[in-house]
Parts: sequence; C-alpha cells; structure tokens
Amino acid sequence: MSTLKFKPVYNNYKGSQLRSCNMWHIVVLILHLSSTWVDGVQQVPCYFIFGDSLFDIGNNNDLQTEAKANFPPYGIDFPGGATGRFTNGRNMADILAELLGFDGYVPSFASTEKGQQDIFKGLNYASGGSGILNETSKNHLGEVISLDQQLQNHGKIVSEFVRIKGDKKSAKDHLGQCIYTIGTGSNDYINNYFLPVFYRTKNQYTSERYATVLIQQFSQPLKDLYNYGARKIAIFGLGLLGCTPAILAMDGTDEIICVDSMNLAVKQFNNKLIRLADELNNNLPGAKFSYVNVSGISSTPIPGVTVMKTPCCEVGNLTVNNEALTCTQFGNSCPDRAKYTFWDGVHPTQITQVFIGKRAYKAQFSLDTYPFDIHHLAQL
Ligand SMILES: *[C@@H]1O[C@H](CO)[C@@H](O)[C@H](O)[C@H]1NC(C)=O
Ligand SMILES: *[C@@H]1O[C@H](CO)[C@@H](O)[C@H](O)[C@H]1NC(C)=O
Ligand SMILES: *[C@@H]1O[C@H](CO)[C@@H](O)[C@H](O)[C@H]1NC(C)=O
Repeated sequence: MSTLKFKPVYNNYKGSQLRSCNMWHIVVLILHLSSTWVDGVQQVPCYFIFGDSLFDIGNNNDLQTEAKANFPPYGIDFPGGATGRFTNGRNMADILAELLGFDGYVPSFASTEKGQQDIFKGLNYASGGSGILNETSKNHLGEVISLDQQLQNHGKIVSEFVRIKGDKKSAKDHLGQCIYTIGTGSNDYINNYFLPVFYRTKNQYTSERYATVLIQQFSQPLKDLYNYGARKIAIFGLGLLGCTPAILAMDGTDEIICVDSMNLAVKQFNNKLIRLADELNNNLPGAKFSYVNVSGISSTPIPGVTVMKTPCCEVGNLTVNNEALTCTQFGNSCPDRAKYTFWDGVHPTQITQVFIGKRAYKAQFSLDTYPFDIHHLAQL
C-alpha cells in the first residue's frame, strides 16, 4: 500500500511500488506526516517537467549563460547546497514530485548526458531564463534552452523509450500515464518585452497582441507534447510579475503596490492561455490540459510570510535593468527565510513554492486549477 520517503534520491525508483506495507511502515508514516513526503504511493509512473527557472534543477549549469543559480547562497536550505535551483531550497518540480509520491526528485535532462538515468521515471528539461520565444533572454544572458529546444530534447528521450520498449504502442501507453507540467512565459516578459534595450517586441506589439503572439507560438510545443504521447498536462499560468521585488525596484516608485502595466500583460497572457487549454482539449482526443492559476493562488496571504517586496538574498543594483533578478554570488541572505515571499529579485522562496505547489496539486479553492488539479489528473 504505502512506501516511505526517507530522503531524496535520484536513481532509486525501481521496485518502490513492490515494497510491502507492514506495521513498522505505518508507524513511521505517522511520524513522518509533518514532512512533505507524505503521499506514500507513487501515483503515476513518471513525471516530466518543462519550463523556466521556477522548475529548473540545474540544466543551465554547463551552459554559457548568466542565467545560473549553481552558487551560494542558492540552495542554502537544500540538502547538498547549490544545485542550479533558483531558490533557497526545493522548487516546484521537487515539491510536486514529493506530492506525487516519488522516491526522489526527478533528474535533470542534463544529467542524462553524463550517466544513465532512469528515464522511465521522467526527466526535468526546464531551463532558467528560457521562454516561449526562441530569442528570449538569448540577446543579453547567453544560452538558455527555449521551450522548442526542450521539446526537441524530449523527442530524443521518446525515441529512446521506443527503442527500449521495443514498440511505439507500449512506449505511448507508458507516456500517456505520466504527469507533465509546463511553466513558462515569465521570461518572455521580464527578459524580452519589458527589456526594450535588448528586444524589439515592445515596439512591435501592444501587450494584447504580444500575448496572442506568445500563445500562438506556445500551441505548437503543446501539440508536439501530445503527439509524443502526453495526456495529463498541467500548464502553470504566470504569476504577478509586476509585484516582484526586481520589477518594483526598476519601476522606481516606492508608493505603488505593484506595477500595473506588467500585471495587465500577465492577465492578458493568462486569459488566452486558458482558452488555448480549452481549445486543445476540444480538438485533441484524450487530452487533459489543465491550467494552474498561479497569480490567483499567490494573491492569497501565506501564513507566517510578512516580507513581500524585499528579496531575501543580496542582489545587484536594483535600479539597473536585470542586475537585481538573481542573487549576488556568495552574497548574504536573510536568516528568517520563511518570512519572505521572494528569495531573490524574481524567484519565490521555498515556502512560497511549497504554498503554490500544494494548491496546484490539490486545489484549495475551485479557481486554483481549471479544470483539474494535478492530484485529479494523476487519478484519471
Ligand atoms: C533558436 O535560436 C538559436 C540560437 O539563437 C538558433 O541557432 C536557432 O536556429 C533558433 N531556432 C529557431 C527555430 O528559430
Ligand atoms: C484565479 O484566481 C483568482 C483569485 O482566486 C480569481 O479571481 C480568478 O478569477 C482566477 N482565474 C481564473 C481564470 O480562474
Ligand atoms: C545603481 O545604479 C545607478 C544608475 O546607474 C547609480 O546611479 C547608483 O549609484 C548605483 N547604486 C549603487 C549602490 O551602485
């Protein structure tokens, strides 16, 4: 019945479903109820992750890029320290793997190139700085793995699945059982549209039109994912980018609560994203695309969190474009991290990520997810 999660491991999944449930396990399970590794049974055979720095666990570490987080103080609350996760501890991909009952965190695609990973359990393709548009971040940060490229990487893995399974049908059957999460688009705003020094999009499009362009571009990788066998797909909407410390600082006004122009752009994108999910569900047989209302969820107060506009770690010059997005290497960070919404200029602390991840997994309010939460997707 239940298997227990004692510690995160990368490659220890075979046989976990076969372990027997005895009295001792039950006792230990009760003792461990306060940890996040609570859902003992692994609910799906595999979990694949696409997106940006909210989900990246180190895919950028060997790239020529400024979009990196493999140095302190990143990872200050993560076992083993800095890994490339853009937060102080676990990120949303980790939290969802825990909630889905996995034995350990889903390994990165980059790590498959170094050694044999158990690809049947799933992989994490997410890349910090990446976006829906290929150009996003690349003009000023260097290499990032755009959503299109992440899908190409997944294509290679799917071919490997087919090779190992021996036929397409059994590979697709397996892939159809997995959970997929995609969270991207923030950088198409922060590191593209709202950075006209490096990108032309703001001069080319109104924010309404830009949202349409992004959603049109987004639909192809989502269809590709479906064609690779995915059915249970949760798409994370954008959070309120106009309320992040870096954006607030760049805007330069102390009085305002959030930067409305950016939040309006986010809303336009999210509204179109929900419609895209509906359209894909109507047109692709068996598709179950679901929308996670990140901006709605993160509008609710998080118990114990009182500092909402200041980053916990030391960041660069707040008034200079982009210097304040990430932590200064080997810089300081606040001791009371559980009181902060944001870890650096744009990325949430672990406590915020847990809060959002839990409600994406099991909706607390009906508007948190549409139409399904991830727990429900797993059961389908
Ligand atoms: C994406 O960008 C890379 C590097 O800028 C370029 O080599 C590649 O051709 C682009 N891909 C597409 C599909 O535009
Ligand atoms: C997202 O959540 C907020 C707050 O609960 C709600 O006002 C909004 O309508 C939700 N959005 C969608 C598309 O469900
Ligand atoms: C931050 O950048 C602004 C604009 O370039 C400059 O005037 C200011 O002195 C800088 N602040 C610090 C602390 O370096």
